Amino acid sequence: MNAAIRAVVRKGIYSGLEVYGVYNGYQGVVNGTFEKLELGSVGDILHRGGTMLRSARLPEFAQKDVQLKGLEKLNNFGLEGLIVIGGDGSYRGANALSQLGFPCIGVPGTIDNDIEGTDFTIGFDTALNTVIQAIDNIRDTASSHERTFVIEVMGRNAGDLALWTGLAGGAESILIPEENYNMDEIVDRLNKGKERGKRHIIIIIAEGVGSGLTFAKELEKRVNLDVRASVLGHIQRGGSPTASDRVLASRLGARAVELLIEGKQDRAVGIMNNEIDDHAFSDILSSTHRIDKKMIELSRELSI
Ligand code: F6P
Repeated sequence: MNAAIRAVVRKGIYSGLEVYGVYNGYQGVVNGTFEKLELGSVGDILHRGGTMLRSARLPEFAQKDVQLKGLEKLNNFGLEGLIVIGGDGSYRGANALSQLGFPCIGVPGTIDNDIEGTDFTIGFDTALNTVIQAIDNIRDTASSHERTFVIEVMGRNAGDLALWTGLAGGAESILIPEENYNMDEIVDRLNKGKERGKRHIIIIIAEGVGSGLTFAKELEKRVNLDVRASVLGHIQRGGSPTASDRVLASRLGARAVELLIEGKQDRAVGIMNNEIDDHAFSDILSSTHRIDKKMIELSRELSI
């Protein structure tokens, strides 16, 4: 997110605009915590995880009276447009503000990769790499101690993080919310792997499917294996962003500024087939995120 903030500030100033940062998300909109940002304000943040503007969840922003309060703060301060970086909830707030007449542009930022209108969200690649490193580390114990590991990854209701890390980490089974799993098939797969001499077994479970700990206990009742569970948790959300995430954030942030300059009111930027694109909030919010079925198939074929 810092890379996107840097791109917005630098592109804005380069284009002759004044740029202000809003602290703590919609909480900052409602409280009017705005601060002018200069070129140097965003120096030395490109390689840092998190967001220099900090973040806050404000479920109350779904209420019209709270939105109007925010709108008043924005207008009174003399701001003319807002760029919102975030996921579904952030887009809902931006959509509401734009419907009230305040121009908003969305930039997709979440490790869940669950936003429509973009092939990738900012943070997804970094989280993938963090999870892969964890899987590689866990695999060492799995191999040397001949253990089965159930690794729970984040992703909210989406299975993207699980699917991609499962494929990249060579998991034997990947459990995602978009597909029902069959315990008999998983057990069969594990037993076959063991029969042909596999020393380690990795199962990735998306948090949207349920608890990795509970699943591990269920599995242990069905197999004659030493099963352990590991819940990766918030380590997946932080850390220095990958080069790919930095480039994506820079491209999307800069395009968001261009859209405001072009007078667009309610668009969200995204990357599709490596082209920067934009869509109306209403289109994005009304479509359901779909997972790549071919990748699910491929992961099955490769983990026999
Ligand atoms: O949406 C990003 C995400 O990291 C999800 O993957 C996860 O379910 C959630 O946020 C965790 O939220 P919190 O930090 O509020 O517990």
